[in-house]
Amino acid sequence: MQKCKIGIIGFGTVGKGIYKILKSKNDLHPILKDIEIVGIAVKNINKKRDTKLENNLLINDPYELIKDPNVDVIVEVMGGTDIARDIILKSLKARKSVVTANKAVIARYGNEIYSTAAKNGVYVLTEAAVCGGIPIIEPLKRSLKSNQINKMVGIINGTTNFILTKMSNEKADYEATLKLAQKLGFAEFDPTADVEGHDAADKISILSELAFGGKINRVSISTEGINQIDIKDIEYANKLGFEIKLLAFSERNAININDSLSLNIWVGPSLIPKSHPLATVDGVNNAILIDADPLGEIMLYGPGAGSGPTAASVVSDILNLQSSLTKDTKSIDPLLSFNFWRDCHIIE
Ligand code: HSE
Repeated sequence: MQKCKIGIIGFGTVGKGIYKILKSKNDLHPILKDIEIVGIAVKNINKKRDTKLENNLLINDPYELIKDPNVDVIVEVMGGTDIARDIILKSLKARKSVVTANKAVIARYGNEIYSTAAKNGVYVLTEAAVCGGIPIIEPLKRSLKSNQINKMVGIINGTTNFILTKMSNEKADYEATLKLAQKLGFAEFDPTADVEGHDAADKISILSELAFGGKINRVSISTEGINQIDIKDIEYANKLGFEIKLLAFSERNAININDSLSLNIWVGPSLIPKSHPLATVDGVNNAILIDADPLGEIMLYGPGAGSGPTAASVVSDILNLQSSLTKDTKSIDPLLSFNFWRDCHIIE
């Protein structure tokens, strides 16, 4: 198999996790030896870092990696929207496939990004963008393809679930627990995206586009976070036999209007009976229930944030891209060319 040469852009929680997987597990998982890091672009190459890096990997300018003919795949783990969008689009135009963990950019510019990839004959893989280490993007693209998805409901933000669990089980203080979630690498750089529900809204937007097709108008998703939840609310909910969880919900409406698909999508704090499977999802874990026809109901569950699980999804995407890199034979993995954009509309 041809070596896959990658340029990593960003070296925060996820970037460090990728480096750790690629450098420390090669003996256990020999296929990882086929991935070579050409460079890692960071804002400040002189910053003191706790991760010891091999010499000369750090560079200042991410565009150098995009221009470098030795780089096959750009791994964007810097976060943010505008600069990340530019980097992804320029990489695709330079005919480099992209792996990204960036839900904000995919939820806002997915259409433009996927069509640019298609025009240039390259790919964008995003497994790490939703639910960290849980495989959810690939199942929706492939394994569940024969089903009609009717509804998805889940806990898809690890930070808020970590906070709510600690408030419920240990009566922990909201602010202190948020700080702990930041320290543990669960929260976004700007944690308001987590606690105000925008991170979950980005993710349910991406999942809904995959499950139902078409382009979701991201700003039309009704979004409420957990920042107004008080310890008293949780205590009362518990006494009544409920947990409070931040849910993301997306459902196909029963009646289609003018032959267009209409969806009901929202993110908000919700009361869940303690006997419900989602009520038992604790800590940084995520879970998503998918109701599909003819399959019925399934639940995907696991670590939804954090360096290791999220980096594992990124590295799996890189490995999945490798088969498209056999330039000598011009062969393309037909599964990667799956195009999920279908014509339908969201009624706002
Ligand atoms: N901040 C996100 C979360 C990271 O807490 O779920 C994973 O997407």
